[in-house]
Amino acid sequence: NLGVPPVTYGQGDRPPRGNYAAARPDYTCDQDWAAYTEQDHDLYRRLYERQAAQLPELACEEFIEAVQQLGAHDRIPRFDELSERLYRRTRWEVVAVPGLIPEEAFFKLLAERRFPVTHWIRRPEEFDYVVEPDVFHDLFGHVPLLFNPVFADYMQAYGEGGLKASRLDACELLARLYWYTVEFGLIRTPQGVRAYGAGILSSAGELRYSVRSPQPSRVPFGVERIMRTRYKIDTYQATYFVIDSFQQLFDATAPDFAPIYAAVRAQPPIEAGTVLPDETRIPPATA
Ligand code: PHE
Ligand code: FE
Repeated sequence: NLGVPPVTYGQGDRPPRGNYAAARPDYTCDQDWAAYTEQDHDLYRRLYERQAAQLPELACEEFIEAVQQLGAHDRIPRFDELSERLYRRTRWEVVAVPGLIPEEAFFKLLAERRFPVTHWIRRPEEFDYVVEPDVFHDLFGHVPLLFNPVFADYMQAYGEGGLKASRLDACELLARLYWYTVEFGLIRTPQGVRAYGAGILSSAGELRYSVRSPQPSRVPFGVERIMRTRYKIDTYQATYFVIDSFQQLFDATAPDFAPIYAAVRAQPPIEAGTVLPDETRIPPATA
């Protein structure tokens, strides 16, 4: 799930694709695994293979190791089986949802260590790009790192932080943190920068672009810096933020955000792509 502001659930004047009428009050629904067609499973397999081929060079070790946990990739995984394995490792579960859900419902599920996964898969003609998150983005992009204990705790803390941000009317600022870490985050490794964000790991083209292209700005992670920075929703990112470790991410986001929201509100926003005078650019990884 992209965790974008609530107004974006559904596509402008187009209704959202999923069947929200069949969802429970917490927005979860049944996966209805038996309803997938052979074509659906085949599409999942092809998406998986395309991305998996790129991981050794471009993804962080933690992700590469954890992606195995998704199980056989010739079929869309059964959420109940996956949840069993996940629960044993980090006490997280995956639950089916009809698509993007309102942010309060999203935060609440994360706070309960239940990760919402869209149950439907994109259409074959959307192989290269899909506007709304589908089962491939949500599972392949997000679920592997939920097997990592530190990242798993970060996601729960984010959910709790989201409920608090709703009360402080700060969801727009907090959403930037999600965007630049959970969706588009890079991490420093001995082999150079690597991807850990779900939006890039599940993307056909942006995975390589984010790690290797000389074009975008790559700057060190900072909570306040990220909260001030706008993001692109319809092109590759102009800025990527680089963490040193998941522990850094967890520790840096542990303090009370109330004063940080106030400080961010008192300053002008930063456009995507900007490198500030006191910042060091982090170079792309080389082959
Ligand atoms: N520390 C944040 C707060 O007080 C909560 C949070 C933790 C938000 C981790 C995001 C990620 O609001
Ligand atoms: Fe997502």
